[in-house]
Amino acid sequence: MTRILVLHGPNLNLLGTREPGLYGHDTLHAITSRLDTLAVELGLELEHLQSNHEGVLVDAIQAAPAQGVAGILINAAAYTHTSVALRDALVAVGLPFVEVHLSNVHAREPFRHTSLLADRAVGVVTGFGSTSYTLGLRGLAETLT
Ligand code: DQA
Repeated sequence: MTRILVLHGPNLNLLGTREPGLYGHDTLHAITSRLDTLAVELGLELEHLQSNHEGVLVDAIQAAPAQGVAGILINAAAYTHTSVALRDALVAVGLPFVEVHLSNVHAREPFRHTSLLADRAVGVVTGFGSTSYTLGLRGLAETLT
């Protein structure tokens, strides 16, 4: 079965209570359940990780090929805009990845308009709330088949 690593960056553990006007009311647990349901439909096996620590995310990306991961769905959160390390890890492992955001980052502060990941992504989904994740997973699945 095709394995996908789903990565969530800093502060996404607070979803549900964190600025619901921007990020919606779904908790990370609810998003994870939605993705797991979709994964059954798409014939995918998901592995989920949320971390507030850049290096933990880098370690997970580095470990992915040896764990048989075929692609990565990532909301790197604030690290999207700052992390050369995450970009380098994604490029180093060479796995196809899709970048997602709950909010429309382009309708927000200028510092959120830059992504250090996007030009190496298969695609970017931004602004659909938790639906960004399901759209992103569908896109990644199509890329892999
Ligand atoms: C986010 C957008 C980022 O700019 C922000 O730092 C986040 C969440 C989103 O999903 O909309 O933490 O990635």
